[in-house]
Amino acid sequence: MNEFGSPVPVNRYEATDDWHAVDRYFTSTLVREDSILAVARDSGDATTMPNAEVAANQGAFLEILAKIAGARRVLEFGTLAGYSTIWLARAVGEQGQVVTLELEPENAAVAKANFHAAGVSHQIETIVGPATESTERLINDDTEPFDFVFIDADKPNNPAYLAAALKLTHSGAVIVIDNVVRNGAVADAASADPRVQGVRTVAEDIAAHPDLDGTALQTVGEKGWDGLIIARRR
Ligand code: DHB
Ligand code: MG
Repeated sequence: MNEFGSPVPVNRYEATDDWHAVDRYFTSTLVREDSILAVARDSGDATTMPNAEVAANQGAFLEILAKIAGARRVLEFGTLAGYSTIWLARAVGEQGQVVTLELEPENAAVAKANFHAAGVSHQIETIVGPATESTERLINDDTEPFDFVFIDADKPNNPAYLAAALKLTHSGAVIVIDNVVRNGAVADAASADPRVQGVRTVAEDIAAHPDLDGTALQTVGEKGWDGLIIARRR
């Protein structure tokens, strides 16, 4: 088992020097990861899951996707240190809002300090607790629908988070799911890893849903070999 719970030997597929070099090239050339984002990235070390935030070029990808979608309201599952949250807050602009859901109070505290430093606190609502319970409250409260959802929390719950997202979005909404390749483990139908099954089930749920179009992209880079599902409500 490697770090992603995959039977694939990690030394075959872990991030190579080449992948790091290409990420560094594009990030330094194209991506505006300013000092505020760099500090937020580093503060991931103070969370329960160091190094789990998206890469800088992936953060910029989320920002561009949310802008293409014209998103004003974003829902995020899994805050950690709030690195992707800041990218998304910048995407929605001053009139927009990001609601981000985090299980661990200590992670939410790290994130809130980063939001304050980034000057985006007024655009972000951080809700602490199990995301299934938090979304249940948002659904019961008839929360204004979201335009864009980023699912990046505990992977076995991906299907539950998609179901909640479908109750909290409208036609045209975009749903992105992180970490769906997991060093190739996703292709193993017999995997006993609940995280892999969480990805496979959510992919099948998207495929079976009459109102969803979806696809998936593999990525390599400083985060190793992984990928994203991107879906859109018709
Ligand atoms: C894991 C989770 C993430 O969201 C991520 O980006 C990387 C790793 C994990 O569960 O190990
Ligand atoms: Mg992730």
